[in-house]
Amino acid sequence: MDEFETLFPKYGIHFDLVTDINDFDEVKSLIKVDTKAIYVESVANPTTAIADIETLARIAHAAGIPLIVDNTFSTSYLFKPIQFGADLVVYSSTKGINGHGNVVSGVIVDGGRFDWNSSRFPQFLENEFILKSETHPDNYSYAAVYGRQAFIKRIRMKYLRLMGAVLGPFDAYLELIGLETISERLNKEVATSLKIARYLQTNPHVKAVYYTGLPDSPQYPLAKKYFPKGIGTVLSFELAGTAEQTKRVIDAVRLFLYLPNVGDSRSLIVNPIKITHREVPEERRAASHITDQLLRLSIGLEDSDDLIHDLDQAIASAFK
Ligand SMILES: Cc1ncc(COP(=O)(O)O)c(C=O)c1O
Repeated sequence: MDEFETLFPKYGIHFDLVTDINDFDEVKSLIKVDTKAIYVESVANPTTAIADIETLARIAHAAGIPLIVDNTFSTSYLFKPIQFGADLVVYSSTKGINGHGNVVSGVIVDGGRFDWNSSRFPQFLENEFILKSETHPDNYSYAAVYGRQAFIKRIRMKYLRLMGAVLGPFDAYLELIGLETISERLNKEVATSLKIARYLQTNPHVKAVYYTGLPDSPQYPLAKKYFPKGIGTVLSFELAGTAEQTKRVIDAVRLFLYLPNVGDSRSLIVNPIKITHREVPEERRAASHITDQLLRLSIGLEDSDDLIHDLDQAIASAFK
């Protein structure tokens, strides 16, 4: 939130936020002449709400802007947004792509289909010192020289090469080791997430479970369409208790680490209102179920019965 409120506006980048990304009329109404993109999370943090990527891509393209998808929660193993019309996909590969929480990193994937040759994007139309060549003596902008690859070439040449936004070699090595096991990790973690979500639904001290991979979730049709292998390894639940009891659950778990990362091979727990979503204004929190009683889990590779037993004993001890 802080980046939307304070950092980006200093660079002239402003955001219109929507409460429900699948409220297509609202999304359309916010697209103005100076709008540059629609930016969505494929699976939202912490509610796991699913964005209808195909429809959003259609809306974006009708307006001449790209759809950018943050696909961090599901990873490229569970979902490939470009196949459904997204133009750019971004990942915090600190999370499930790496899977071990030992590297801070990011990935940008460009589908290479968006036409940047538009007055909406003047940065691709200006002649660039470095691109002047015998083949492009007069018109040597990113759009003229690279066509549909203009965006990713500009990212590489300006941000990677000039500004140094480069992953260190050892971090890249750790990422690649993590990536090798992505399918094994995610298959197990998704199965365990589903089992834990089902268990939580049966716990009398749990008021609500937020995991759109559950067949009784209102968004299950979208989950089936976009995520046949599962929506991911993060889920949230709301306790039917007090803020103090919620804190006691965090204190009582033995296997879950109290850590704001997601996608680790170790299971993690966090109270979003105090940590990951503390900057979200109060009026927006309610729409995302971010209350004092909300806990977010990121499911790792431990035995599923052990994790359920751990949650069970922690919740029981908080309500003693
Ligand atoms: C969905 C999502 N995208 C991006 C990020 C940013 O990740 P990083 O801290 O690796 O920059 C996070 C971090 O929590 C996230 O949850």
